[in-house]
Amino acid sequence: MSNIVNNLVEDYIRTTLKEKDGLLRELEEYANEHNVPIVHKEVSELLKVLLKIQKPKRILEVGCAIGYSSILFASVLDKDVEIITVERNEKMIEKAKENIKLAGFEKNITILEGDAEEILKEVEGPFDMIFLDAAKGQYKLFYDMVIDKLRVDGLLISDNILYKGMVAHDDFVIRRKKTIVKRMRNYLDYICNCDYLSTSLIPIGDGVALSYKNNKRGDVNA
Ligand SMILES: C[S@@+](CC[C@H](N)C(=O)[O-])C[C@H]1O[C@@H](n2cnc3c(N)ncnc32)[C@H](O)[C@@H]1O
Repeated sequence: MSNIVNNLVEDYIRTTLKEKDGLLRELEEYANEHNVPIVHKEVSELLKVLLKIQKPKRILEVGCAIGYSSILFASVLDKDVEIITVERNEKMIEKAKENIKLAGFEKNITILEGDAEEILKEVEGPFDMIFLDAAKGQYKLFYDMVIDKLRVDGLLISDNILYKGMVAHDDFVIRRKKTIVKRMRNYLDYICNCDYLSTSLIPIGDGVALSYKNNKRGDVNA
């Protein structure tokens, strides 16, 4: 039960998804067995469609884990795509390196090792797409560090924004998650109301926010 979409609807949508094959499928199985949180299946399909439309050449990802989403991005995009992904967990980094090598994307995907709070300061833009998929309580902090590195017309994608429904309604909130929920609500309030982004919140997976960067800060737009 995701608290986000009616279970019957979610089950139905899952029946429509094509099974991945090869390494991506193996990584899904590994993630499942080892409780590694990777993008939900329906979110991965949405990302594939967005990538095919937008054709980003440079992507910044915050939260690499075992490399599943980076490998997914590289497998959909042109051979010259550059993906920079940040990860602080050493075991994840080791596994991600192995997987990226197995996938043959060592030239495309670079892992920056360490805490995003430090690393993002040093990362050089511009990026065509930024994918936030790390500590949910830190999204606003990550956002502040990366938004000027996203080019105009670029896409900011924030995953897990509804966090098991807790962000949408207090009835779902577990007491020890209150701070994260409050921070995520503040982040969503910000990206939905700031005048240089057009944002849509999508209730699939654990919730995804799509934000299109319109113009310079301060420009008025629809
Ligand atoms: C949801 S997983 C990423 C999943 C991955 N994007 C995928 O779909 O295959 C989140 C990852 O972010 C990492 N992480 C969380 N906070 C971080 C931070 N402040 N700096 C670097 N990595 C962080 C965690 O160690 C974890 O591996």
